[in-house]
Amino acid sequence: MSHLIAPSVLSADFANIQRDVEMINNSQADWFHVDIMDGMFVPNISFGFPVVKAIKKHAKKPLDVHLMIVDPDRYLQQFRDAGADVLTVHLEACPHLHRTLQAIKGLGMKAGVAINPHTSASLLTDIIADVDLVCVMSVNPGFGGQKFIDNTYQKISMLTEMIRVFKSDAFIEIDGGVDMNNYKKLLDTGANVLVAGNTVFSSPNPMDTIAALKKV
Ligand code: DX5
Ligand code: ZN
Repeated sequence: MSHLIAPSVLSADFANIQRDVEMINNSQADWFHVDIMDGMFVPNISFGFPVVKAIKKHAKKPLDVHLMIVDPDRYLQQFRDAGADVLTVHLEACPHLHRTLQAIKGLGMKAGVAINPHTSASLLTDIIADVDLVCVMSVNPGFGGQKFIDNTYQKISMLTEMIRVFKSDAFIEIDGGVDMNNYKKLLDTGANVLVAGNTVFSSPNPMDTIAALKKV
């Protein structure tokens, strides 16, 4: 299977959200990456359910919702109702991660776990068989347009091996600082979902940029 591209709506123009959602619909993108920030888990607040529902209303591709919030168990049902297809929680925010992932799957969504740059991929050994997606944060979460952290590559290698050993079919998603200079190396190392916010939305032609990121 070819890799997936998930443009991050965080970098879209919220005054023209329908236009930007339709651009993604008409592009070669695979998913919508939707970042939820609560001002507690991360030092920024993004948006909540009304905006997710507005995106869902026009989206013709799955919503990949990334929760950067404390105690996400409180809101799993509401994100399903708002239209999430993939729901990712942070390992650092979930003391009962196994239970949380089962609850997400029980609601009919794909269950993802995200790890911050300081969190070792080895901590996923006992959960990898239960996850549909691992989101490797390649920047400190909270803001778009940050610089890619190079240590990400060794995490992808470790996860690729872990996924092979445990016969998991989890996606390896890279989130933060993905650009035209690093995307090929990320794919070669084992990543198969690339999130791109700034690279897509600050480019002169976002649809062409998405098409370029699809090329191998
Ligand atoms: C960062 C978010 C990312 C962000 C990526 O906290 O989780 O999804 O939108 O943005 P870029 O691609 O601009 O680094
Ligand atoms: Zn994200």
